[in-house]
Amino acid sequence: MEKRRVLTGITTTGIPHLGNYVGAIRPAIEASRDPANESFYFLADLHALIKCHDPKRVDESRRAIAATWLALGLDTDNSVFYRQSDIPEITELTWLLTCVCSKGLMNRAHAYKAVAQENEEEGSSDPDKGVTMGLFSYPVLMAADILMFNATDIPVGRDQIQHIEMARDVAQRFNHIYKGQYFTLPEARVDDEVAVLGGLDGRKMSKSYNNTIPLFETEKKLLKLIRKIKTNSLEPGEPKETEGCTLFQIWQAFATPEQTAEMRKRYEDGIGWGEMKNDLFELVNDHLKEPRARYEELMNDMGYVEEVLRKGADRARAEAAPLMDQLRKAVGFGSFV
Ligand code: TRP
Repeated sequence: MEKRRVLTGITTTGIPHLGNYVGAIRPAIEASRDPANESFYFLADLHALIKCHDPKRVDESRRAIAATWLALGLDTDNSVFYRQSDIPEITELTWLLTCVCSKGLMNRAHAYKAVAQENEEEGSSDPDKGVTMGLFSYPVLMAADILMFNATDIPVGRDQIQHIEMARDVAQRFNHIYKGQYFTLPEARVDDEVAVLGGLDGRKMSKSYNNTIPLFETEKKLLKLIRKIKTNSLEPGEPKETEGCTLFQIWQAFATPEQTAEMRKRYEDGIGWGEMKNDLFELVNDHLKEPRARYEELMNDMGYVEEVLRKGADRARAEAAPLMDQLRKAVGFGSFV
């Protein structure tokens, strides 16, 4: 059977939190263990420059994300794990694609449109205030990430579906103009089963809301943050709703079905919020103890992480280089002799 090629990128501007773990990292690591898949996972550091011009922050994030995925057990023999910026073919392909991508398509990209709309709402005279060419043409870079490896399945959140459609569009244009089947058309894979966690304030856990619980904080900090999660004012002994309860949601994301059923019962019986928070801490902490220790080891052994990523880059380039050669010829850049 033909293997599915699963590919996804993680933009390196933040430090992984519980929401990232449950929503993206855990399912990706599981998918990489499925023999029906070939997995390509990368640190999207070129994408980080779109929103962040702080070199220290970009690099810290790259280190933390790399160490996190390895600490959580990503098997880099079964998957290709690399830094985007280590693959010069990706930036080269970006240009070839930029030259077949219509500007009108990029005008419709929602990341750009959101900023333009904000400018309009603020009554700014310049609708493009704060818009770099990086932000504007970012779907082309993302298309190159995907098409460079002929990926078939792209696990993403709903907000990214449009970009996968754009990658298909650009791939078809290129195939058509240069008369060949150079690229496979990728498909977005949105998993509705995957939990979306709430954060400290009850809104979706997200670095843009500043309401996250970092994945590998110290035990003390983890407990402190769990205690900070907003609850209602029901007293111990009063029955409580599990629906829409951030604490319960996090519980469910880490617990076995039996533990979840049991907790549901304790909600009906009126578990107190203090008790729930302590139990939630125990549950999450038990899960994270081992990978946390491994994470700390890795953060102190960047030589190892560097080596793993370099090997990943070699494997990725072994795929990218031959296709890039073909593409160079296709556009008229063959050798003269
Ligand atoms: N833009 C994606 C995000 O913000 C990250 C990303 C970059 C990506 N390149 C990709 C995801 C290629 C899937 C495939 O989440």
